[in-house]
Amino acid sequence: MIGAPVFIDRIGKAYGTQTAVGGVTLDIAAGEFLSILGPSGSGKTTLLTMIAGFESPSAGRIVIGGRDVTAVSPDRRNIGMVFQRYALFPHLTVAENIAFPLKMRGVRKDLRADRVGRALDLVQLPQYAKRYPHELSGGQQQRVAVARAIVFEPPVLLMDEPLGALDKKLRESMQIEIKQLQRRLGATVVYVTHDQEEALTMSDRIAVMAKGQLAQLGTPANLYCNPQSAFVADFIGKMNFLTGEFLGETADSRTIRLGDDVVIDTPGAAHGFEGSAKAGDRVRLALRPERLGLTARGAGGKNALPGRIETSVFAGAFDLHLVRADFGSGEIIQVQIPADGNRTAFAMGTLVDVIAERDGLRLFAVAEA
Ligand SMILES: Nc1ncnc2c1ncn2[C@@H]1O[C@H](COP(=O)(O)OP(=O)(O)O)[C@@H](O)[C@H]1O
Ligand SMILES: [Mg+2]
Repeated sequence: MIGAPVFIDRIGKAYGTQTAVGGVTLDIAAGEFLSILGPSGSGKTTLLTMIAGFESPSAGRIVIGGRDVTAVSPDRRNIGMVFQRYALFPHLTVAENIAFPLKMRGVRKDLRADRVGRALDLVQLPQYAKRYPHELSGGQQQRVAVARAIVFEPPVLLMDEPLGALDKKLRESMQIEIKQLQRRLGATVVYVTHDQEEALTMSDRIAVMAKGQLAQLGTPANLYCNPQSAFVADFIGKMNFLTGEFLGETADSRTIRLGDDVVIDTPGAAHGFEGSAKAGDRVRLALRPERLGLTARGAGGKNALPGRIETSVFAGAFDLHLVRADFGSGEIIQVQIPADGNRTAFAMGTLVDVIAERDGLRLFAVAEA
């Protein structure tokens, strides 16, 4: 199987006066794993449903493998689908469920058995062919749904929160399985999720959606390290935000003040919000918890944020310290310190400096939230 490129060209969908998707353009390469990530109601399912052909767009067009399919019915788009609402047929066995798309396509019975067998091997359920869906666990049912979606070797696979109903451990192993399967098949995958960790681990690129619009498109590392808006910075990974006052900038540096007298130096305009701020503007400073350090008060040097320990908790791979800022409105700053076996214990109330690694800081305008 070879994947097909998918071109979504200024696609929009309105329900009455409400815009579910507003003019989204995405150029997805053949064989790419692209996730559509966003909060509930951001238009992910609507977008995927339009690619599948179950909903017709109010504007724009969809091109798959060079063919404009905007007006083509779903069964003629040659797309594999794993949708929540597209469940297994309860009265058919696992093998019959998987054979269904082949039957629809007029594949001969003797060839069908062979392909069903291979699909079952791929999702690692070879011994379950004769069972009925209700005799399987949730995870096994999802794997059958994946087998049914890939059995006719579609060049494009669409998945809408396929792992949403599974517990964490099973979800993580299924994430790896789906990713390996996709690599083996070479299919183009468009994968919808509201789970940012899932999107980060599985995707070649992620399209972040907010209110029916594309908020940012990029590789997982790109979105994580260089979010272009406070929304994306907040949605992907953990983030502290502190509000301050813009003091000024040079080509590679922007300086802000928090509270009355805490001056922080951040990287220049290439990082964080585009456009400009002028002295006196309110700005939001974004700090990743894992890019912060802790020292005794007064030992922090440059870019030190004075605070006091509110709580410290052991979180396995790291210690999580909640530090109450001793400036501004006294917000809580989360600090993650990797656990290395030599825990630095901080008693509650200890006066500390949070050290903000300059390269890990990003600035955003206050208006956009
Ligand atoms: N059939 C429909 N009729 C009216 N509004 C809809 C319909 N489907 C979705 N919407 C609205 O469109 C928006 C996006 O929905 P959806 O695509 O399901 O978001 P997501 O999958 O990101 O949670 C929501 O505000 C939702 O209420
Ligand atoms: Mg949805």
